[in-house]
Amino acid sequence: MRARGMEMAGKDCVKVAVRVRPFNKRERDAGSRCIISMTSNNISIQDPRNPQNSRTFTFDYTYWSHSGFSRNKDGLFVSEETGGRYADQASVFLDLGQGILDNALQGYNATLLAYGQTGSGKSYSMVGYGPNKGLIPTLCERLFQSVRSMQDSRQCQVFFSMLEIYNEQVVDLLSKTSRSAGGLRVREDQQRGFYVEGLRRVPCDSAVQVEQLMEQGTRTRTTAATHMNANSSRSHMLIIIQLKQIFSKDCITKQSNIYLVDLAGSERQRSSGSEADRLKEGTAINLSLTTLGNVIRSADVYQIFRHFQCCLWKLCISIVLLLHTNASGAIALADMTLGKKVVHIPYRDSVLTKLLQSALGGNSRTVMIATLSPADICYEESLSTLRYAERAKRIQNKAVVNESPTERLMKELKAENAKLLLRLSRMGQEGRKADDETKELRRLLTHNELQIRAIQTLWEQHLQEALKDWETQYATITQERRMMQMHPYIMNINEDAQLSGVVKLFIQEGEWDIGLADNSPRSLCIRGLGIQEKHAVFSNQQRRVSITPVSGSKAIVNGVPVSKRIELQHLDRLVLGSNGTYLFIGFPSERSVEDWSRYDYDYFQSELAAAEGFHIQSLSTGPHQPDPSLLAVFYDYIKLMPMVTEANQMSEELKKGVEFKLEIKNLAMSDSKGHDLEKDIAVRVTSVESKQVWMWSKAKFVNRKFLMEEVYQQQVVGGEGADRAPLPRDRDPFWDPLEPLHLGSAHLWLQSLAFRIPLEEQVEVVGPEGTEEAILQAQLVPCSPTGLPLGEDDILIDPSELLGKRLDFQLVLDQCCGLRWVKEARNRGVQIGFQVFDCPQPLYTPAVWHNVNLLLDHRVQFTALRTSQELFSYLQSNALVLELWGLQEGCSELVSCMDGVKMTQEDSIIIDKISPSEHSTAETRGSDLSSSLRTLHQDLEQLRNANAALTKENSALREQLNSARNGVENNRGRQERRGSLRPSCDAEFAKALKVFYHSMTSVRGQLQRLRRHRPSEEADLLGLRLFVDEHTYLLKDFSEQLEQCVTTLKQDVAVIVRRKREKSGIWS
Ligand SMILES: Nc1ncnc2c1ncn2[C@@H]1O[C@H](COP(=O)(O)OP(=O)(O)O)[C@@H](O)[C@H]1O
Ligand SMILES: [Mg+2]
Repeated sequence: MRARGMEMAGKDCVKVAVRVRPFNKRERDAGSRCIISMTSNNISIQDPRNPQNSRTFTFDYTYWSHSGFSRNKDGLFVSEETGGRYADQASVFLDLGQGILDNALQGYNATLLAYGQTGSGKSYSMVGYGPNKGLIPTLCERLFQSVRSMQDSRQCQVFFSMLEIYNEQVVDLLSKTSRSAGGLRVREDQQRGFYVEGLRRVPCDSAVQVEQLMEQGTRTRTTAATHMNANSSRSHMLIIIQLKQIFSKDCITKQSNIYLVDLAGSERQRSSGSEADRLKEGTAINLSLTTLGNVIRSADVYQIFRHFQCCLWKLCISIVLLLHTNASGAIALADMTLGKKVVHIPYRDSVLTKLLQSALGGNSRTVMIATLSPADICYEESLSTLRYAERAKRIQNKAVVNESPTERLMKELKAENAKLLLRLSRMGQEGRKADDETKELRRLLTHNELQIRAIQTLWEQHLQEALKDWETQYATITQERRMMQMHPYIMNINEDAQLSGVVKLFIQEGEWDIGLADNSPRSLCIRGLGIQEKHAVFSNQQRRVSITPVSGSKAIVNGVPVSKRIELQHLDRLVLGSNGTYLFIGFPSERSVEDWSRYDYDYFQSELAAAEGFHIQSLSTGPHQPDPSLLAVFYDYIKLMPMVTEANQMSEELKKGVEFKLEIKNLAMSDSKGHDLEKDIAVRVTSVESKQVWMWSKAKFVNRKFLMEEVYQQQVVGGEGADRAPLPRDRDPFWDPLEPLHLGSAHLWLQSLAFRIPLEEQVEVVGPEGTEEAILQAQLVPCSPTGLPLGEDDILIDPSELLGKRLDFQLVLDQCCGLRWVKEARNRGVQIGFQVFDCPQPLYTPAVWHNVNLLLDHRVQFTALRTSQELFSYLQSNALVLELWGLQEGCSELVSCMDGVKMTQEDSIIIDKISPSEHSTAETRGSDLSSSLRTLHQDLEQLRNANAALTKENSALREQLNSARNGVENNRGRQERRGSLRPSCDAEFAKALKVFYHSMTSVRGQLQRLRRHRPSEEADLLGLRLFVDEHTYLLKDFSEQLEQCVTTLKQDVAVIVRRKREKSGIWS
C-alpha cells in the first residue's frame, strides 16, 4: 500500500516508511501468526496475547511485502497479480530512492536510514539480495543514468565511500591499507560539520563500479567480522555518495552528500539483560544506536517545544492585546518562560549521531525506512520499531541547496581574472608602458588560470586513478568468477545473510594447507576463533576432494567432529575452529539448479544441535508441530550454541580457566503446581581448576559475551601495543562473585494436609536437566498448636471441614542423601529453601558443609488461624517446593528473612493471614463439597493424561529404539519430558481419602521404580530392547494399580456425597 505522489520537497519533516517482510523459516516452523495489517497509510499491530489490543500508526509510506508475491524466472519477487498490494523492490525505490536522488540532484543533502530488528529486512531494502536489488544499487544506477543524460548542461563528479561503525570505531571498508588501531577519527570542521578524517573517497563514473566497490566493502566487513570475532548485526554500515555538479556556464556548483545507512539491529537498543548483571553492558556496543534514539527523542521534544513556544507566543500576544499593555512586556514574558530554555540534542555523544547530525534536524532531506517482522513472536520488537518510527517522523530539517567553497573559489578566481584582463586591456588602450605592473598582472592571471584548470583536472586525474584501481579490482573479481566455474571451493556462511558467500576459497588440484598461515603459494588463509596456523589440509586429486584436520584442530563435517581424512561431497557443511562455518561447493559438474540458500547459518547450527541430541523433531511428541514455546527454546539454543563455543575459545586463549556449557532448564522445577513443558536456557560456568560453578541466565551470558569480545579484541586482536594487563576482577567479564546455586527441587504435595493426614516422603531432588541431585526425606505432620502430632481420629473425611478452622502442621526435613553436588567436590555445602503459601520470603535450613549424606532434623511449624478458601485450594492442588541450594567455598550462606513474618505464641509461623471469616456455614458446605468433587474430577483427568503421556512416551521410546542405528542413545530430551511429567503424576498421588491414601502408597512405590528405571549407559541394542519390554511391563502394572485406586476413589466419593446429601435432607 503506497501513498504515491507525496512530494519530498516542501516541508522538510523526516519522511518515514514502514515495510513488512515475509515470514522466515523460523517463524514458519513456529506456526507464527501475522499480527501486522495495513490499510492505506495506516499500519496496525495486534498484541498476540490480547487480540483486542491493537495499535494503529500512520506513516508517509507503508509497504506490504509479506504476502501476495511469487518469484519469477529471473528470481525477482513480484506481485502475484497486477495491481496487487505486494510492494516489490522497484516500487519501494520509486517512492523513496527516486526522492533521495531528485533531492541530491537539486543540490540538497539527502539521507536514507534503515531501522529495525536484526533479520527484519533492513539490508534487503537497502542493499538487496541477488536479483532483488535494493535501494542503494538502484539509486546508483539511476544516478549515473541522470549524470549521463545531463552531460551537456553540467559536469558531475561522484565520490563513493563506505564505512562501518562498530563499537564506536569507524572502519573504512574501502581502505587499501590495513586497519588502523582504534579506527578512523571523526573531526569537526566549521564548514563541513563532522567528517571522518582520512576516509577513502573513490571517484566513480558507473553503477558497475559502485557495485563492485560495495562488494569489496562487504568483503572487508566479512573478514573483519571473522577476524575480530564481531557480530555484524551490531554494526552500522554507512555509504556516503558525494555528488558535485558543476554548471560551468552559470558558474554554479551544487554539492550534495547522500548518506545511506543500514543501522545496527534495533533489538540491541533495549538493554539485553544487563540490568540483571553486575557488569553493565559494554557502553560502546549500544552507544551509537542509543544516542540516535536520544537524538530523535530530543529532536522530537524540540519540535514539540517549538510548537508549544509558538502557541505560547500567540497566547501572550492575545493577552497583551487584551490587556493593552505594551508588547515588550509580552516578549519578556515569553523569554522568561521559554525563550531561555535550551533543548540539548546530544549529537556529540556518539560517532553515528555526529555523522548524521545534518540528517536529523539539520541540512538534509531525510527518509527512514523501518522494517518489521510480521510474526507474533516479534510483537515487542515490532511495536518498539513502530514507536521509534513514529517519533522520527516528527523531526524537522532545514535543507538548503549547497554551494561549495570550490565553487566560490572558482567564481572568485574567474571574477578576479576578468578584472585583471580588463585592467590589462585598459593599460594597453591607454598605451601606458607600465612593464612591471603588466608583468605582475600577467603572472597573477596565469596563476589563476592554472588554479582553475588544476581544480578541473584534479577530478579527471582522480577518476583516472580510481578507474585504474578499479580495473585491477575488476580483474580479480572476473578471475574469481572464472575460478568458480572451474574448481570446487568453500564459501563462508555468516549469521548475517548479507555477508554469506562473500569469501570463497578455491581448492584447485593438489594439496592445500588451510589455516592462519599465509606463507606459501599452496596455503589458503582463514582467520577466526580457534583456527590454528595450519588447521587442515585439503586435497583435490582425481576429481575427489577431501579434508584432513591437523591433529588438535577442530573440524566438523555435517555436524560430526572429524579427526581423520574425510572425503567431501557437494554441499557438505564444514565448521572450522570455534565457529568458522563454510559450505563446500563441489565440481561444476556436480552442481545442479538446487537452491543453496537453505544451507544458511541456522541450518548449520541446527545440525550441530542435532548432533548433541537436541533437534526439532525431539520437541514434538506426536505428528503435530512442536509447541511454539519449545521451538523458541530450540532457537535460543542454536543461537547461543556458537556463542558458547566462542566464549570457550576466548576463555582458553585468554587463559581464563573457565568453561561454559549450555543447559536447558526445566522451569517446572520451581513451579509449585509442577507445570509441564516450560523450559529455559541457562549457561553453566565452571572454573576448571577450583570447580567453582556459576549459573548465568541467557541475558546475562549474551551481555557477558559482548564484554568478552571487547576484552578479546583489546588483548588478542589488538596486535602490537595492545593493552594486555589483566583486568581487575570487578571488571572481568569472565568472573563473578560466588553465589549459592539452585541445584534442583523436590515437590512435596500438600494435599494430605487438607485431610489432616501426615505425609512421610522420600522425594527425589531433580536438577534442571532432570538429573537426580539428592534424595530428601521429609514429613508434613498435622499437629496441635503446641506441636503434638494429631492422631488417626483427627483425619477428615471431608476436607472442606477444614474451612474456617485452625490448622497447624510441621514441616520436618529429616535427611538428605546422595548429594551429587558434594560428591563432586567435598569443599561444598548445601541448604534447603522453601516457601509456604503466603510467607513473604523463603526460609532456609542452616548450611551443612562437606557431607554427602546429611542429617538435617529441621522442623518448622506453620499455623493457619482460620483456613481460608485460598489456602484450602492451595493445599489441594499445590506442592511445597523444596529447593536445594549449593554452597561453595567463599560464597555467603542463605539466610531466612523474618521481616513481615508473624508468629503465634508457640513460635509457629502464621500463614493465611488474610483469612475471610465466613466459611463454615451450612450453605457453603454443600457447594464446597461439590467444588472439591470437581477438583477431584479434574485431578482424575490429569492423572489419566499423565498416564496416557507415559504410555505415549513408552511407545516413542520403542520407536526410537527401532530406529536407533548406532546403538548410541542420547536420552536427554526424554529425560526432560520424564522429569517434567513427574510433578503432575505426583500431583495426583495423594487423593486424600484414607483408603485411597494407603493404596496410593504402593502406586507411588511402583512409580518410584519406574522413575529410577533407566537403561544402563552401556546398554546395546538388545539391552535397550529388554529395557523397553521391562518398562512396558512396569507401566502396565502401574496403570492397572492406578485405575484400581481411581475406581475405588470414585466409589468412595460417591458414597460420601450421597451420605452428605441424605444428612442435609436433600433426598429425603
Ligand atoms: N521484503 C522481503 N522480501 C523477501 N525476503 C526478505 C524481505 N526482507 C527480508 N528478507 C529476507 O530476510 C532475511 C533477513 O533480511 P536482512 O535484510 O538481511 O535483515 P537485516 O538486515 O534487517 O538483519 C534475508 O534472508 C532476506 O532475504
Ligand atoms: Mg543487515
